[in-house]
Amino acid sequence: MTARIVFLLASLSIIDAGASMAGPVTTAPDPVHGMSLAQRLCSTCHVVSSEQVHANADIPSFREIANKQGQTEGSIMAKIIIPKHPMPVIPITKSELEDLSAYIISLRNPEHRSTP
Ligand code: HEC
Repeated sequence: MTARIVFLLASLSIIDAGASMAGPVTTAPDPVHGMSLAQRLCSTCHVVSSEQVHANADIPSFREIANKQGQTEGSIMAKIIIPKHPMPVIPITKSELEDLSAYIISLRNPEHRSTP
């Protein structure tokens, strides 16, 4: 009897482990999703795409941010996680953060891309 219960519990935990592994564990950053997030979350302050005309004139556009000297996906991420005042902390998930940063760095001009 005890052995059967132990077996049951063991098989349940196997099923459980399988289910939690079925979801996307690691996915590559998706700049297209990043762009739609940026339009939704960031465009009140930043010009996020070349089609956008209005935003706050005192705030750098995503293209300007991408083309700052030495800018990388990592340095962009850091500035979203720990923004400099008056930029607010924006509650997003890690994968949204990666998608947004991938989108912003994709606006970097090709001649800057080789710069480390
Ligand atoms: C309420 C307005 C506001 C919103 C919304 C906002 N930002 Fe900003 N952001 C700013 C301001 C202002 C700065 C400039 C801060 C400074 O003086 O360096 C800034 C700076 C940045 C920088 C740093 C640029 C650099 O290299 O110096 C990044 C990256 C950035 N924003 C990304 C984002 C992203 C991504 C979103 C959306 C998820 C977002 N921001 C939403 C106001 C905003």
